[in-house]
Amino acid sequence: MTIECLNLESIYSKSLARPIFSEINLKINPGEFVVLLGLNGAGKSTLLRSLLGLTPVKRGEIKINNLTVTPENLHQIRRHLGFISQGGGLVKQLSALDNVLCGCLGDCPPWQTLWGFPSEVQTKAMRLLTELGLKEQIHQKTSRLSGGQQQRVAIARALMQEPKILIADEPLAGLDVMAAQQVMEIFAKLHQEKGITIVMVLHDLGIASIYPERAIILDQGHIVYDGNCQHLQEKFCEFT
Ligand SMILES: Nc1ncnc2c1ncn2[C@@H]1O[C@H](COP(=O)(O)OP(=O)(O)OP(=O)(O)O)[C@@H](O)[C@H]1O
Ligand SMILES: [Mg+2]
Repeated sequence: MTIECLNLESIYSKSLARPIFSEINLKINPGEFVVLLGLNGAGKSTLLRSLLGLTPVKRGEIKINNLTVTPENLHQIRRHLGFISQGGGLVKQLSALDNVLCGCLGDCPPWQTLWGFPSEVQTKAMRLLTELGLKEQIHQKTSRLSGGQQQRVAIARALMQEPKILIADEPLAGLDVMAAQQVMEIFAKLHQEKGITIVMVLHDLGIASIYPERAIILDQGHIVYDGNCQHLQEKFCEFT
């Protein structure tokens, strides 16, 4: 699935005295692994949220698979988009399994989940958690899991709907070097083996230059670099 932004402009921010982002033109091709970089407040999360229809845009167009996103077709398009929000967005009081099952609430009619999720859905959630190395933690309360384990639960939840595009906002936040590397290996595997398009926000330029193949640097709401991930440190300093 292709993602295209045509002259996209966000809502106006009074505190910034400008739109949060503007003049965003980009095309992400199926199967690309893209990292979105930029200083705090550059507009990265807002841009990702706009792609998902979670934050309204003022001007321009978003096309997913050549189809312009409108309020009418947003629900249909969203089915193909998996989202891992900044902070994970997990319900800490629920078990790992229940959090993953929440990933398909939109797919199951309410009457079906009233007395629990169908067994095939439960099996799928357990398989995903097992594949991500959390077999022993399936029924554990999420608050008792480590940061890296919680991040994997968030990935499993996003994978429940078998998205073609995975959008992740700072999926490595708070993880130690080892856990961050493990989580990135999972994304790399999903990209290589399942051909999932990945768009993620990272702050670690070292990691950003290893796994993704394309970097987009945002500065004060504008794209200032869009290209390969070589010498990212120098590029980042030059453009921000
Ligand atoms: N709904 C909103 N209305 C007005 N301003 C907003 C709104 N949402 C975000 N902003 C502002 O837009 C700017 C960009 O915010 P955003 O969260 O997109 O940044 P970011 O690049 O993701 O930063 P970080 O790296 O800290 O996560 C910030 O200054 C923020 O205060
Ligand atoms: Mg952010």
